[in-house]
Amino acid sequence: MTINKAISVYFSPTGTTKKILEGIIHGLQAAVVEHIDLTTPTVKTMNFTIKQDDFAVIGAPVYAGRIPSIAVQRLKKLKADKTPAAITVVYGNRAYEDALLELSDLVKEVGFIPVAAGAFIGEHSYSTTANPIAEGRPDTEDLIQARDFGAMVSKKIGEIKSLDAIATLPLPGNFPYKDIVALPGISPIILDNLCNLCGACATVCPTAAITVNTTVLTDKTLCIRCCACVKSCPIEARVMEDARIIKVAQWLSRSFQERKAPEFFI
Ligand SMILES: Cc1cc2nc3c(=O)[nH]c(=O)nc-3n(C[C@H](O)[C@H](O)[C@H](O)COP(=O)(O)O)c2cc1C
Ligand code: SF4
Ligand code: SF4
Repeated sequence: MTINKAISVYFSPTGTTKKILEGIIHGLQAAVVEHIDLTTPTVKTMNFTIKQDDFAVIGAPVYAGRIPSIAVQRLKKLKADKTPAAITVVYGNRAYEDALLELSDLVKEVGFIPVAAGAFIGEHSYSTTANPIAEGRPDTEDLIQARDFGAMVSKKIGEIKSLDAIATLPLPGNFPYKDIVALPGISPIILDNLCNLCGACATVCPTAAITVNTTVLTDKTLCIRCCACVKSCPIEARVMEDARIIKVAQWLSRSFQERKAPEFFI
């Protein structure tokens, strides 16, 4: 088999998953590349059909050892036709637990055949200057590994005669998956004295939770605490100040300083 068209499919509020997928796609060296960005709220009303002779690279971040529920809902908008896929989770240097297995099960449900899987590391959404967690990742080394993974996937696809012969990938994780952790009522806030109402935070919010008029309003019931708004504010006027999240960030920063390496299942 050869890869003619690669389709990069991702949910990536703070952009680390997207960067890893770019590295993988680089290594695949497909002639044509298309993107399906499931991060923007407008995809809620869309459906996507992926053909059998395409190749998909599918990525999502890890939230509490799982795929974020909103990413699950949006990935269910895809309809594939026994399309081969490489699947990837990106986590903040703590653990990915059941997320890769969950992503594999999910993509199979919508018609893909996972031929390779990877777990990569990205700067933690809760990372700040005061509590750095995997700061700056994926870095150059990570992106080289993503590219190498893409090249390995390309080689594997080149050697496949029939997709029916693909063995199930031996992925870590358990089913039933671990329980989803709900933290309702928490969202970042703005520092009124700094905010200039530029609207950048509203533009990147994956759930359209933010409205900017004469002030910035956040619908906490929609917030998934992805921190895209915090990281996108050009003047650091948006912060995650909730004491529970700061405590978690301090613990993560203290406990997970040792650099974890990407893992491949191929
Ligand atoms: C609500 C939430 C839960 C998270 N849970 C985990 C986790 O269980 N393990 C981990 O290592 N990182 C965890 N992270 C960090 C993200 O997986 C990591 O920052 C990832 O790179 C974000 O991807 P993105 O840049 O594509 O949004 C969590 C982040 C958020 C916002
Ligand atoms: S991005 Fe920052 S400055 Fe712009 S509206 Fe949002 S909080 Fe205010
Ligand atoms: S308001 Fe919540 S969901 Fe929207 S970008 Fe900020 S943290 Fe993410």
